Amino acid sequence: MCGIIGYLGYRDAYPIIINGLKKLEYRGYDSSGIALFYKDGYSLCKTKGRVNELEKKIYSNNIKISGTIGIGHTRWATHGVPNDLNAHPHVSNSNKLIMIHNGIIENYHAIKIVLLKNGFTFKSKTDTEVFINFIEYIKKENKSSLEEAVRISLNEIIGAYSIVVIDKSHPETIIIAKLGSPLALGINDKEFFIASDTIPFVNYTKNVIYLKDGEMAILRKGKELDLRKIINNHKLNPIIKKLKINLKQIEKGEYKYFMLKEIHEQPKTILDTLRGRLLIPKGIICIDGIESNKNIFINAKSITIVACGTSWHASLIGEYLLEELASIPVEVEYASEFRYRNPIINKKNIIIVISQSGETADTLAALKLAKKKGAFVFGICNVVGSSIARNVDAGAYTHAGPEIGVASTKSFTAQITILILLALKIGKYRSSINDNRYKCLCQELGLISEKVYHTLKKDDSIKKISKVYHNVNNFLYLGRGINFPVALEGALKLKEISYIHAEGYPAAEIKHGPIALIDENMPVVIIATKKGCYNKIIGNIQEIKARKGKIIAIVNEGDIQVSTLADHVIKIPNSSEELSPLITVIPLQLLAYQIAYIRGENVDQPRNLAKSVTVE
Ligand code: M6R
Repeated sequence: MCGIIGYLGYRDAYPIIINGLKKLEYRGYDSSGIALFYKDGYSLCKTKGRVNELEKKIYSNNIKISGTIGIGHTRWATHGVPNDLNAHPHVSNSNKLIMIHNGIIENYHAIKIVLLKNGFTFKSKTDTEVFINFIEYIKKENKSSLEEAVRISLNEIIGAYSIVVIDKSHPETIIIAKLGSPLALGINDKEFFIASDTIPFVNYTKNVIYLKDGEMAILRKGKELDLRKIINNHKLNPIIKKLKINLKQIEKGEYKYFMLKEIHEQPKTILDTLRGRLLIPKGIICIDGIESNKNIFINAKSITIVACGTSWHASLIGEYLLEELASIPVEVEYASEFRYRNPIINKKNIIIVISQSGETADTLAALKLAKKKGAFVFGICNVVGSSIARNVDAGAYTHAGPEIGVASTKSFTAQITILILLALKIGKYRSSINDNRYKCLCQELGLISEKVYHTLKKDDSIKKISKVYHNVNNFLYLGRGINFPVALEGALKLKEISYIHAEGYPAAEIKHGPIALIDENMPVVIIATKKGCYNKIIGNIQEIKARKGKIIAIVNEGDIQVSTLADHVIKIPNSSEELSPLITVIPLQLLAYQIAYIRGENVDQPRNLAKSVTVE
């Protein structure tokens, strides 16, 4: 939540900051702001709304945009409504110190009371304005340098932050710090790029340092980086990593929206997830994190999978796969619930955490709780070097590439792909899967991306269905077995980007309540593939038809029975049940996209949402 960016070097800072903010908008987009520092002054501009509103304001107000030092912020509101005053950067009472911040300061209220007693005043409702004034207060009280004042105040702060602080009379020194919110530092000879992720600076440098929690850095123009531990000011040796992102991955190309591009990338991203891990001719699955912890997985009594949102839906599919193929009892938990319970786990338990961003605050907190209790934690993340990836005992990256659309698509199928590999690998270790089934599933997995590609060609018929239903108020999504979580995911996609109310249910469950909603205005999307409970689903369809509901059925090629009952059918390739979610979810993603597109919604940046939820 919130994107931050900064530049200190010799280039024109404005284009780096403004273009970087556009790339960070997926993190929040209710207000934005920029500060630029030049020889004899600085300019500040902030506004409610997206970065293009900020650009318009900068030009219409003739804001000076020169200078080789700058910072910018795109906000997802936590404290205070989205408006110009609450937008970042925030300036201290003396008008000297300037800050951008991503995160939440939990004890800001107590600090604000102290500051008010000491004569400070506040223009905004944000915790960030309290934060920067707290630094100013400490600086004055202790007569300390800015870096020392920042360090002392960080030791008093409770909450999560990644921050950039500048004294406008000495802008050639920038202080950055991190706890709980992501912060990447790009470095080149004589220049520094600061951002919430590496995407804004990948075309300037491939050298990156991911600040760790509890670290701060002092960046001085033309000088070496000074990395410190916040708690004791100990100097640290920076570890520079090489970025592997290529620019095409973060551009929309021929697509109108990133979400559509990412949906269409899935045949490739599934192959990328499998690359080097599934060696079909030998029937070998290689996952380092499992192999080096073989005995833990062989002896596991149970596994708990913890995640949020779409990753939670993938986890439910993981539950089915691990129980079916590896014979291990699995529980799936929402990270936000798990972290506040007293889960009965110890060192005999395996916890799998799943997160695209690797930064979701609740999932990270759940991970830490599990580790504290001694459990072995395995992570499935997409973003390399993310907080979750760094904190687990072992893990596997999904390698789906950057996912920019706020609604997750390709990361979901990549997570399922890893979970299939995991279940097969552990099943083989535990001898709970016979050789023939193992071999067949490996072979089929090797061909699955072709089937996904074929399914994507159904886009035109899905467009036609979308035209019929784009104006309805409610949708139901039904599935059974391993495709019940896919129904949940289909409903989530639709509500996220088109704001149509949608619910996912196990098909047989509707007679326990939801059937009361069905009438001639209710479209029901039902996954009715040949495997699983096909005959039972036919019964469910009859029940809906008897109440005049409209059926949009996802069926296998060659299907006759469901096709004659349904109002609309989307035919997809056959597959074994275990792999079917990789295919059945595709039409649901496309349906959600097309409906939102027809309704004229901003598909990539739906209202009230942000890509990574780094606050509670
Ligand atoms: O980055 P994570 O996978 O941890 O994110 C979890 C959820 O916030 C995320 O899946 C969210 O539900 C998406 N908007 C779904 O499209």
